[in-house]
Amino acid sequence: MSEEAQPTTVSEAPRASAGIFRGLSGKLLLLTIVFVMLAEVLIFVPSVANMRIRWLQDRLNTVAAAAVVVDGLQNVELPRNVQDDTLMATGTKAIVIRRKDASRMIAAADMPAEIDGEYDTANFTAFAAIRDAFDTLLFGGNRVVRVYGPLGESDAVIELVMADASLHKAMLVYSRNVFFLSIIISLITATLIFLAINRMLIVPIRRMTTSMQEFSNDPSNPARVLVPPEGRDELAVAGQHLASMQRELQRTLKQQKSLAELGLAVSKINHDMRNILSSAQLISDRLAAVDDPVVKRFAPTLLRAIDRAVGYTREVLSYGRTTEAEPHRRFVALKPLVSDVAELLSIDPQSGIEFQIQVQDDLEVDADSEQLFRVVHNICRNAVQALTNHEAEDGRPRMVSVSAMRMGSVVTISVDDTGPGMPPKARENLFAAFRGSARSGGTGLGLAIARELVLAHGGTIALVEKPTPGTLFRIELPDRPVPLDAFRSKARH
Ligand SMILES: Nc1ncnc2c1ncn2[C@@H]1O[C@H](COP(=O)(O)OP(=O)(O)OP(=O)(O)O)[C@@H](O)[C@H]1O
Ligand SMILES: [Mg+2]
Repeated sequence: MSEEAQPTTVSEAPRASAGIFRGLSGKLLLLTIVFVMLAEVLIFVPSVANMRIRWLQDRLNTVAAAAVVVDGLQNVELPRNVQDDTLMATGTKAIVIRRKDASRMIAAADMPAEIDGEYDTANFTAFAAIRDAFDTLLFGGNRVVRVYGPLGESDAVIELVMADASLHKAMLVYSRNVFFLSIIISLITATLIFLAINRMLIVPIRRMTTSMQEFSNDPSNPARVLVPPEGRDELAVAGQHLASMQRELQRTLKQQKSLAELGLAVSKINHDMRNILSSAQLISDRLAAVDDPVVKRFAPTLLRAIDRAVGYTREVLSYGRTTEAEPHRRFVALKPLVSDVAELLSIDPQSGIEFQIQVQDDLEVDADSEQLFRVVHNICRNAVQALTNHEAEDGRPRMVSVSAMRMGSVVTISVDDTGPGMPPKARENLFAAFRGSARSGGTGLGLAIARELVLAHGGTIALVEKPTPGTLFRIELPDRPVPLDAFRSKARH
């Protein structure tokens, strides 16, 4: 089955997406970038608040260093130009040192009328720090704020009034840096995760999907079976299962192919066999007219056997299949049927094999008589063959016995022999077509046919263990269920 021979399968099979962001790996790459960016945002929020507080503390510390010096020069007012040029250069508008008893204005320049915010760099909550940071970031830049904090280790407080433009600018620069850093980190992380996932997941998954596609295009080609991956992780185990499933499927396909071929061969043989048997039927019809006592004795059996054979072949041909036809059930007297089987088996009197029938004359089985005949015939024939091929042991009778009894609506038929017993090979493949034969010249179909026919009657067939040597088969055949309405109307009349 080549690819050219099956173009539809190739085009219909869904294929893994080829575009980089449509495949699983591309999606994973995008998702990783998005998630790392999200994580960076979560980290950014507290870190920008922290940066702002530190910036303000630094500013306070710088100013405090100068202020302490000025404060030391008691009663000295800084010259105006020094105040403006040095302390005020950074946007600071006023510097005050507050003590418990007194406050001192160290420097002041064009004090604005209004202060937009007040911040204590020593006492603040995390929430307030975050809120103030975003407030400055989004709306700051043109405000004047008052910032205060402890003056070194002393009780004094240093306070300064300043424009927040430089703070705003520093925060913008910080945010931009964090943003670019986040992009770089997420790209590196995403690439590393992508490479790892690609190696661990995508490559094995792709190998499996490719194998599935190739296998479905050409399932009978052994080269298309996946080479099972090694390892114990989930994907390796899935791959190993896939490979064994493909091998199993291939075996089944092969078996089905040979069964289909066999079916065709059987039909052809069956067809020609019917023709030959029909001729034999015509000739044996004439035998019945011969006036010889020996011929007269055997002719009816021969005729019935040929009639049966013609019947089977016709049935198989008319159904055009190798499975059995539906049973046509009616109540059949079992004893004459078993006698017919015994007669057809034509056991050689020299062989010393005895065929016993322990069935009551009035025992009837609800079955298709032809199919029941075939079941009993196959099982009894096996028993006779086993006994014939087996050397007689001293003192042991060579016997096949068929017994039956009815219990309520179930008839149990037992076929017991004193032969060698089931060989292990036949036991392992009991009832499996073509596999169960353990004797030369056997096809291994007899028991499989018997089982199929019994199952079609809703019955069971089993090999029963017994204490003495030999083989015992037990068949249970239930009557057809009686429809309640029919039963009631029958009971009324
Ligand atoms: N009564 C028995 N005693 C010993 N072995 C038996 C008996 N019945 C069946 N077997 C074993 O079971 C195997 C399977 O039987 P089955 O009837 O399915 O196939 P077969 O007899 O080999 O071939 P065929 O298709 O011609 O009947 C036989 O080959 C035989 O070895
Ligand atoms: Mg057989």
